Amino acid sequence: MVAEPSPAELPDAFRTLVQERNAVVLAHYYQDSTLQDLADHVGDSLQLAVAAQRCEADVILFCGVHFMAETAKILNPSRRVVLPDLDAGCSLADAAPAPALAAWKAAHPDHIIVSYINCTAATKALSDVIVTSSNARRIVSALPTDRPILFGPDRHLGAWLVAQTGRPMDLWPGACIVHEAVAERVVLDLRARHPGAPILAHPECPAEVLIHADFVGSTTALLQRATTDPATTFLVATESGILHKMRLARPDATFVAIPGRDISCACNECPHMRRNTLLKAYRALRDLAPEIELEESLRLAAKRPLDAMLAMS
Ligand code: 13P
Ligand code: SF4
Repeated sequence: MVAEPSPAELPDAFRTLVQERNAVVLAHYYQDSTLQDLADHVGDSLQLAVAAQRCEADVILFCGVHFMAETAKILNPSRRVVLPDLDAGCSLADAAPAPALAAWKAAHPDHIIVSYINCTAATKALSDVIVTSSNARRIVSALPTDRPILFGPDRHLGAWLVAQTGRPMDLWPGACIVHEAVAERVVLDLRARHPGAPILAHPECPAEVLIHADFVGSTTALLQRATTDPATTFLVATESGILHKMRLARPDATFVAIPGRDISCACNECPHMRRNTLLKAYRALRDLAPEIELEESLRLAAKRPLDAMLAMS
């Protein structure tokens, strides 16, 4: 067996392998900085879905979580899609298993089913339209007003959308373990320590946190805000991986990651996203595994609400 590169050799060996495989590397903002720096595209869920759809390389190495790699395969099935760790899941995807949604749908046949992209292919297949945090407000606002809506699986994002759009929605009881852990008292404590620093928050945070935010938006929107706001200290309520790009964009500014449950925890690191490492990414490209594969009938059923989203984005 050929020896694996040493940690010092790994970045160059990885770059060489990307070339040899004719691969494109997509990384979410919640990946660690090493993976972000080696990726061809770094983005939020929507940007990465669009990049995957447009990809002409033979292989997509998706440095993110399972539902993201699955979405890439749904949108671009002729590419091989691999991810570094098959166990990189998501508490939101786990919260809305397809059989439970199917049962709910059968009991509420008149509802429009709006699903956050953080769900499995099988759950997408039961949905009318998919949204991400960057297009959800626009899409929910554009839905017909003569039918009730179920929004899932993120109840916090759903509650924020109800407040933003004025559209009543039934909310599926799911949450992101990272954003739900952000405690109001920690936000207030940090605000007292950094008076005047704008609070930037992702809408997956609970309402009692969002009410203190100066700006609420998707990962990309938070980065844009950090880039254009003249403030020089920011408090950031989302997964801490985004601070890497914020610091690169604003080397003059200080970014304080709001840790979560208490001032010293690291609850703002997604344990699923952080399963991915450069060594696992290297092995995934070398072995072309673990690979995402989908039944064609399921892929087509899951693609329909994704296409609806892309048409409305
Ligand atoms: P966005 O990438 O749409 O901001 O979503 C954040 C997230 O939690 C991804 O899992
Ligand atoms: Fe899922 Fe939350 Fe992790 Fe995103 S940060 S992958 S929503 S658990």
